[in-house]
Amino acid sequence: MNERIQYNFEYERKLRICFIGAGGHSYRNVYPTFQYAPVDLVAICDRNGERAAEYARQFGAKAHYTDHIEMLEKEKPDAVFIVTAYHPDGRVQATDLALDALKLGVHVWMEKPTAACCEEVRQLMAASESSGRFVMTGLKKLFFPAIVKARDIISSPEFGRPSQIYIRYPQGMPPFEERAQLNRVTSLVDHIFHPGAILHYMMGKVGQMSYEWEPFNGGSISSFRFLSGAVGTLHMAAGASGSSPLERLEIIGEGANVIVENGVKLTYYRRAARPAYGRSASFLVADEEAPLYWEPEFSLGQLYNKNIFYLGYVPEVLHFCESVLTGQPPQKGTLDDSLEIAKLLEVYRGTPAGTYAVVNE
Ligand SMILES: NC(=O)c1ccc[n+]([C@@H]2O[C@H](COP(=O)([O-])OP(=O)(O)OC[C@H]3O[C@@H](n4cnc5c(N)ncnc54)[C@H](O)[C@@H]3O)[C@@H](O)[C@H]2O)c1
Repeated sequence: MNERIQYNFEYERKLRICFIGAGGHSYRNVYPTFQYAPVDLVAICDRNGERAAEYARQFGAKAHYTDHIEMLEKEKPDAVFIVTAYHPDGRVQATDLALDALKLGVHVWMEKPTAACCEEVRQLMAASESSGRFVMTGLKKLFFPAIVKARDIISSPEFGRPSQIYIRYPQGMPPFEERAQLNRVTSLVDHIFHPGAILHYMMGKVGQMSYEWEPFNGGSISSFRFLSGAVGTLHMAAGASGSSPLERLEIIGEGANVIVENGVKLTYYRRAARPAYGRSASFLVADEEAPLYWEPEFSLGQLYNKNIFYLGYVPEVLHFCESVLTGQPPQKGTLDDSLEIAKLLEVYRGTPAGTYAVVNE
């Protein structure tokens, strides 16, 4: 968990990397991760040539382009990072760019969303298979230290079988009739990859699901039965205040539960006997069974209290780089993960509220 982070200039072996996209998110959260990754950023491409040139200067790439094919053919990188946006019809720009890169024999790291439907994820799977190149999506939630720790906890024998999950994530959906049109659900396509990634990471595949939807904010409550037999709910809390923390996760085991609040506060309620009812003067349980609680300090100039670490950005980029350097497929942010999330998206778009949908048999 607490691996020692190397600085970029300390790595002996680095990957030759190209980057497609010089937008807001990549500037804030992805290019800066390269300070801590085995990456030689050789070229940047954006349709906006001035931006590409500016980002190349800022982040140390020697070349910049406005055409990704030209860049990949000339620079022959080991891998490409793709952080782009949406076509006017709502399709994900990165999906086609990833297919182009695979055709040219280049490994792909792409921001979420991987694609806007299952069929497109399957196309990426086929292209990855035939080219022998990896595709990893930046499912950052799977790399939050607090989420990774929660996963370790629920996998331990002391926790028992994970039996229930609750995720709160503020996300709205338009009325059902509008959801067929892809560009009316861009926000959902954009965000379902966050809670969807956690659901799959923690509980495995969804067997069946249904949801209820309210018309005031477009919020919803979904209920899931997982193939494991566990149950869960996703509360898409549209309408919550902009000053509120966004997320809450709770998983129940057998006599134990774990909670992650706001992405960084982790509480593990270990298996403990409830103090005798009606007779206990203190709520405090014995130290050996007391809850465990973690949260970061924000005083020191540490790596762990930079958002590119606690929001998983550096860890996800390191996972991809290690995977390409060692020739081992990524274990997280896989196309299998993306397919399961795209299945949920298809249910929300294709199944009206109050109806059961079979997601996996
Ligand atoms: N994981 C996260 O925390 C997180 C947060 C914010 C955004 N994102 C994701 O990041 C992506 C980008 O978001 P953004 O806000 O930076 O978008 P943006 O619109 O600011 O940037 C996208 C850039 O891609 C460029 N582009 C598009 N197609 C191109 C092509 N064919 N060739 C070259 N350049 C091309 C555009 O010119 C633009 O500069 C989205 O997929 C979004 O979902 C993820």
